[in-house]
Amino acid sequence: MTFKVDKLQVTNFRNLQPDIIQFSSGINCILGENGNGKTNILEAIHVLATKKSFRKNTGFPQYLGIDGEKTEILFSSVFKNEEETQMSLSAKINQDASLFFVNGKPVKRTPEIKLLFINPFDSYQFHNTAAFRRSFIDTYLGMLNPEYKKNLSKYNSALRQRNTLLKKKPSHFREMVKSFNQQLAQYGIPITKERLNFLEEIRPFCGETFKTIFSEEHDLQIVLDTRVTQLDEKFLLNMLEERRQKDEDAGHTTYCIHKDDYTLLFDGLNSFDYCSLGQQKMSYLSLLFAYIELFRYKYKSFPIVLIDDVSGELDRYRWKRLVDYLETRKFQVLITTANEKFKEELDRIEGANRIHVDAGSIIQ
Ligand SMILES: Nc1ncnc2c1ncn2[C@@H]1O[C@H](COP(=O)(O)OP(=O)(O)OP(=O)(O)O)[C@@H](O)[C@H]1O
Ligand SMILES: [Mg+2]
Repeated sequence: MTFKVDKLQVTNFRNLQPDIIQFSSGINCILGENGNGKTNILEAIHVLATKKSFRKNTGFPQYLGIDGEKTEILFSSVFKNEEETQMSLSAKINQDASLFFVNGKPVKRTPEIKLLFINPFDSYQFHNTAAFRRSFIDTYLGMLNPEYKKNLSKYNSALRQRNTLLKKKPSHFREMVKSFNQQLAQYGIPITKERLNFLEEIRPFCGETFKTIFSEEHDLQIVLDTRVTQLDEKFLLNMLEERRQKDEDAGHTTYCIHKDDYTLLFDGLNSFDYCSLGQQKMSYLSLLFAYIELFRYKYKSFPIVLIDDVSGELDRYRWKRLVDYLETRKFQVLITTANEKFKEELDRIEGANRIHVDAGSIIQ
């Protein structure tokens, strides 16, 4: 069961005024000039639904409105599920605590609200940083597969301890390292299997969304770049054993599945090396939309999709296709833009809900 956001009101959150924002269950366009509060609306929903921001190193001190003598942020919202059952979700956040309420009653755990946030800068990061790609796949795969998340956290804990031993080299560290080899191999194999499985599952959607949204003549694939050629614990154990000296010299685990990477293939060519900025953006967005399709295939429902100004680097033809695509889908979208030309494309969407933000005030 997934939720859609129906209403939101925030008090003392960044520059936003405590106006009630009404959302439709389809496409919501959030419009306004730079610095007026469009991204802040997406962030407020993200914080309320997932208890954290999509901005890095951000928390209560950054959220709290800077003018006045406010000490507390209030969130008040209504979410609806497929059966149109309403749930009110509210929160009070201050320096010391975050309190959440569902239908007026205090709760320790809030119901899971699935969200997908699409940020224009992530395309650049995805194409330029292996660490970003890894954590990107880990996050999205983890959202679909709790078992993967569990194995990954056990693997990472073993890896951290192994690295500490390699760095500090206490007495008898070799035997202890050996016992962690066992754990890395034990969790590493199912993790690799899940990654391969996930890529296998997303692949058809990936090619399909790319063709539908951006370009019929081109093809997009995503592949796992790993040195684990045999899905077998013994193979990983040998690999770790063979690199023992290297690891000791380096003071950390130089290779295992935490160093695996992903490659986007654009017509068979490595997108990181060959694609233009626009093509990179198309590839990245296609991957995310493919994920949404896969999500639906698994859960029979969609997450709420938050899209923060993605118009940059794409030409008018791609904007049109992207808007056409969003129109045909059944998910709730909140899409922001400050770009007047892209706004013209969004204005073509019949029945879209339009939210204007002006210095934190909402005009609907
Ligand atoms: N804690 C805060 N209190 C008050 N205002 C804040 C706070 N944090 C950020 N702001 C202000 O919120 C404003 C709007 O930010 P936001 O990122 O939502 O703009 P935007 O409409 O998305 O703009 P752009 O089109 O440039 O992306 C900025 O002017 C910023 O200075
Ligand atoms: Mg913004």
